[in-house]
Amino acid sequence: MARYQICAESDIPVGEMKEFAVNGESLLVYHLEGGFYATQSRCTHLFGLLQKGKIIDGNKIQCPWHHSCFDIQTGEVIEWANYPPGIQLLNIVRKEKALKTYKVTVEDGKLFVDV
Ligand code: FES
Repeated sequence: MARYQICAESDIPVGEMKEFAVNGESLLVYHLEGGFYATQSRCTHLFGLLQKGKIIDGNKIQCPWHHSCFDIQTGEVIEWANYPPGIQLLNIVRKEKALKTYKVTVEDGKLFVDV
């Protein structure tokens, strides 16, 4: 694991997120009220683009495809795919899986991520 500088703190306003490619991994960095966090950028259900999803309640990311919802800080599944009705039939083969998370640190106004 190594530490990579990704951008300036001011590049991601509170309540927003931004995608980065770092050392061959694609990750999404979020600026929440409580600080900066990062998860893998693709949903663990069927690889939906989380960047096109919504931040809910200030700490969860909802996938735009089948509405799986994850805790941004831990990556845990809060709600698994439930949209459109019937998608749950796929759950036999697509079991709940948490998002990978990455540590983000801020130093002198710059953001770093451990990948
Ligand atoms: S791809 Fe994200 S919920 Fe299905």
